[in-house]
Amino acid sequence: MARPGSKQAGRDTGRALEQAKRCATGRATGRTFTALIALALVLGAVVSGCARETAPGDHNTAHDPGRGDNETGLPTVSENLPDAFRPHPDFDLTLGELRDILEGVSGDIRGPILATPQAFLHLTAEILEQSPELLRLVDRRHRLPEDYEPTDLVDLQEYGDRLTLNREGLSLRLVVMPDLLAMVEAAAQDGVVLDLSSTYRSYAYQEWLFDYWVEELGRERAERSSARPGASQHQLGTAIDFGSITGPFAVHPAGRWLAANAWEYGFSLSYPRGYEDITGYIFEPWHFRYVSRPATRMEREYFGGIQQFLLEFWHDREQYFRERYRSRRGSPGSGT
Ligand code: DAL
Ligand code: ZN
Repeated sequence: MARPGSKQAGRDTGRALEQAKRCATGRATGRTFTALIALALVLGAVVSGCARETAPGDHNTAHDPGRGDNETGLPTVSENLPDAFRPHPDFDLTLGELRDILEGVSGDIRGPILATPQAFLHLTAEILEQSPELLRLVDRRHRLPEDYEPTDLVDLQEYGDRLTLNREGLSLRLVVMPDLLAMVEAAAQDGVVLDLSSTYRSYAYQEWLFDYWVEELGRERAERSSARPGASQHQLGTAIDFGSITGPFAVHPAGRWLAANAWEYGFSLSYPRGYEDITGYIFEPWHFRYVSRPATRMEREYFGGIQQFLLEFWHDREQYFRERYRSRRGSPGSGT
């Protein structure tokens, strides 16, 4: 990768322009660029290597919330581009507007987004095409109504030949199933059994469960590990408790496998170690929420691998991105 303005960068200009055009336009070939934008793209592509085209499995930056703009010593893409530049053909959004909407966001998150705005918006577009409920923020302060119940719940007994179920009556949203089955199969190939212990829980069931833990542990301890009714991700029908539902699951083969691989199948650890102040709950190595593959990728690449940071960001800005998104697959945000 050459520094902008260097001889190497000059020699590479023609090739970089082609590369940059391919990166920025995607399927929108034939779009006319102004000379200024083309020049800016050249600089951007040279610096970023086509907006950091990450291959599956290339996640060296994950779990590194301290990653900042200037770690490499090179200027970021956005520093080279004018405010009027549009980073992605599917969004009516200038770089200046993106900078504005990121005002107030932690530099650890804003820096990587502005360093690779096209890659970020590409993931944003993929997430917008899916069910909005997959990234719905549910926590102590954002509760679901008592009558909230997913419409596509499926009884996991129907998949009994492919899943290991620790009890009867387990159900999940249908949208979770393809990636869950793929994940279980991949784990099995590695010699690991992923057994499911708790899945969808209704408001009423969560109410009973929370009261049970208050009885068992006392209110203060119960509050740290059990959600009040309406505040549980399990009511969404996309959260799964695996295995023993105890601390040692973190070092159990299934717990280790999930910690390393679940993200590849769109599953995210909701309550990581050391983040009780952020998530509201103690470390739960068994509790994963399905948020979709582009979302776990975004979580790793831009939010330090912390689901809560991603969900809060999305909660505050989803509408903004949705309004500026020009879906290529029909109506914006289609899905159930
Ligand atoms: N244990 C998690 C916080 C729940 O009850 O949903
Ligand atoms: Zn759980």
